[in-house]
Amino acid sequence: MGVALAESFLGHGHPVTIWNRTAEKGDNLVTKGAHRAATVAEAVSASPITIMCLKDYETMYGIFDSMGDILKGRVLVNLNSGTPAEAHAAAGWAAERGADYLDGAIMVPPPLVGQPDSVFLYSGSQDVFDRHRAMLASLGDPRYLGSDPSLAVLYNTALLDMMYATMNGFLHATALVASADVPAVKFADLAINWFMPTVVDSTLVEQASNLDKSYYPGDFGTMEMNLNALEHITRTSVEQAVHSDQPRLMKEIAERAIAEGYSGKNYLAVFEIFKKPTQASS
Ligand SMILES: NC(=O)c1ccc[n+]([C@@H]2O[C@H](COP(=O)([O-])OP(=O)(O)OC[C@H]3O[C@@H](n4cnc5c(N)ncnc54)[C@H](OP(=O)(O)O)[C@@H]3O)[C@@H](O)[C@H]2O)c1
Repeated sequence: MGVALAESFLGHGHPVTIWNRTAEKGDNLVTKGAHRAATVAEAVSASPITIMCLKDYETMYGIFDSMGDILKGRVLVNLNSGTPAEAHAAAGWAAERGADYLDGAIMVPPPLVGQPDSVFLYSGSQDVFDRHRAMLASLGDPRYLGSDPSLAVLYNTALLDMMYATMNGFLHATALVASADVPAVKFADLAINWFMPTVVDSTLVEQASNLDKSYYPGDFGTMEMNLNALEHITRTSVEQAVHSDQPRLMKEIAERAIAEGYSGKNYLAVFEIFKKPTQASS
């Protein structure tokens, strides 16, 4: 990822100084015009802003903590993955060393870095974001989420959560029809080209305001009705001899919603269950 980030900056005409523990990984970047720093201190002092993309926060501490006050007065943007608590701690760590700090999360794999619609999430110092926005736009579409430094990694995790849930939905549904020898390519046409844009569409954005108000009118279908559908999916999975844990879990969540008084509400009331820690089933 570090190579992709540096290539993108070079491609947009920015002077780039690189440092990596394994220096030879930057050989191609040097042939493209990057300057290779011999030390981390040299790299940090070479530019008005330092972009880091290491394995994790611990690696960042390991690199900088023995280096004295080289971060004092510097601007750091950290793009490694982590947890909200780790991002908070890193912002405090940077402040203690006198550095301006922006935390970030990369929403695309390395080959997509530099595309104008590749989203990069940022949170923390708005001043750092505003001053360097044009330079950050060399990497993709920079989105500032707020001054809480943990927001970028939290959004990142939430979107990954949604990605895996969506992929599992498609894969389980495809396994169901595959039990009747339906090829995945045939099902995908209906599931992706018709079903997905019909269900996961802009009406969910409109409904999001109802989530904020905990308003779930059951006019067009209640939780009870949805529980029937989930029982049906679970029974069909067993009947067709495919894995049934995923529909069973969704059924248990709907049952929990009914147990908590949402039986006459619409399905989006499961949001109330998701907002709380998992409880043992009754
Ligand atoms: N790849 C992706 O698709 C992607 C997408 C979004 C976010 N990310 C995030 O970006 C970050 C980097 O990912 P990556 O794909 O570039 O991983 P990677 O190829 O494994 O690179 C890890 C980087 O951390 C360095 N590093 C690891 N341990 C170190 C240590 N003890 N001391 C000094 N340097 C150390 C490595 O240096 P060496 O080269 O010397 O090993 C390398 O530069 C991760 O947090 C990842 O979650 C990656």
